[in-house]
Amino acid sequence: MATESAPKSYTIPDATEGKPDQPLSQSAVSQSSRSARDVTFRVWRGDSSGAKFEEFTTKVTVGMVVLDAIHQIQAESAPDLACRWNCKAGKCGSCSAEINGKPRLMCMTRMDELPLDQPVTVEPMKAFPLIKDLVTDVSWNFEVKKRIKPFKPRKPDAPDGTWRMQQADVDRVQEFRKCIECFLCQDVCHVLRDHHKHDEFIGPRFFVYSAALEMHPLDTEDRVPDLKHRNGIGYCNITKCCTKVCPEHITITDNAIIPLKERVVDEYYDPLTKLFKIFKGK
Ligand code: SF4
Ligand code: SF4
Ligand code: FES
Repeated sequence: MATESAPKSYTIPDATEGKPDQPLSQSAVSQSSRSARDVTFRVWRGDSSGAKFEEFTTKVTVGMVVLDAIHQIQAESAPDLACRWNCKAGKCGSCSAEINGKPRLMCMTRMDELPLDQPVTVEPMKAFPLIKDLVTDVSWNFEVKKRIKPFKPRKPDAPDGTWRMQQADVDRVQEFRKCIECFLCQDVCHVLRDHHKHDEFIGPRFFVYSAALEMHPLDTEDRVPDLKHRNGIGYCNITKCCTKVCPEHITITDNAIIPLKERVVDEYYDPLTKLFKIFKGK
């Protein structure tokens, strides 16, 4: 995975300068237009029958994100350039791509974070089949989700149909609920990306989803056998690449995957648990 170096020569004025409820001053406007510069983009074009990079040059101005530049390229030079997006606010998870080799949301990647003295590459995610240009077919993820055993709450704790939970137990799973299903973690995971274990491995997104269910204080379902035998948790070697790319900053590896692995080990490899099962006749 390529790492980006710090911007070298491109400076833009502070976007927060001036009062938010007042128009920009004349000097700020002229400074902003002076800061506009031509930037070259190398954008992946094509479909499953063949694809390659095409170069486009467009003007980048203050406050632009990569998705803005892609839209500008569509408007100026390539109206048939396919890209998926919805919210432009980092919340729908649609605009996932690889920018300078790194899985990122196009709408949350500011142009001033990138080194603009060299072409900016924009490619589709690699872990899923290409449909066209920057759009991949992520439907495999939705099929995987259907395979995971759903929430199964215990009986209510009180006659009025309510439950009692510890706040700490509630807090523990909140982090997992931030997931926007951008599938950037799936894209970066070598088990899917390089080894194509889609039939045997559900990927970090669905370990997060499984953890949210398994650790839910009311849930009574047992997903541990599936995690070991069907969902491939043993393939994860804790490289933490998934955690690094998550735009919601979910601590995927430490808080979801490792505790699930511990449950698998407790269930299948812990000698005390084995003895206990023998005595219980399980
Ligand atoms: S930590 Fe595991 S799930 Fe995450 S990217 Fe690495 S191998 Fe994949
Ligand atoms: S866990 Fe993070 S990277 Fe993975 S799909 Fe959810 S939001 Fe995206
Ligand atoms: S367009 Fe919704 S996350 Fe980027």
